[in-house]
Amino acid sequence: MKIFIPILLLCFVVFVGCYSDNEETLYEDYLKDCIVTEAFFVRDIQPIFVAKCDRCHSESNAPISGDGIDLGSYEKIVEFEKKYPNILVQSLKQEGGALPMPRGDRKLDICNIKKVEFWVNDSLPNN
Ligand code: HEC
Repeated sequence: MKIFIPILLLCFVVFVGCYSDNEETLYEDYLKDCIVTEAFFVRDIQPIFVAKCDRCHSESNAPISGDGIDLGSYEKIVEFEKKYPNILVQSLKQEGGALPMPRGDRKLDICNIKKVEFWVNDSLPNN
């Protein structure tokens, strides 16, 4: 009878082990469920541009490696969006007519793309 409990435990461990599924699928589900309900320029948007775009699109790098497209400040990002509506979000989503960005790097994760999209649709607040 004493052997029964360890066997029961083992069955449980095996069962839970199998249940934990393929991690990649779970991760993709998590990303699909990334719901953005607010986006602040300073907290959410600027860090994305600094980390992923500034090496080509900051004011000083734009003429050298960003084809002259300066996205290095709030004002410049807004100016670009007003001049070329939707191109920024299209380039991040890598769909539509825009060139895919960030160039030479992997696509941004869906949460960050959704944050930028939310912020643009929210009329680009300087917050
Ligand atoms: C390695 C350099 C590099 C990085 C990093 C980079 N870009 Fe670009 N980007 C360019 C260049 C160069 C162009 C001009 C078009 C071309 O030649 O591909 C461009 C063009 C663009 C355009 C115009 C696209 C169009 O269809 O006209 C947008 C918008 C843009 N980049 C946004 C971004 C954003 C946002 C990021 C960061 C998430 C980013 N880029 C990261 C180099 C870069």
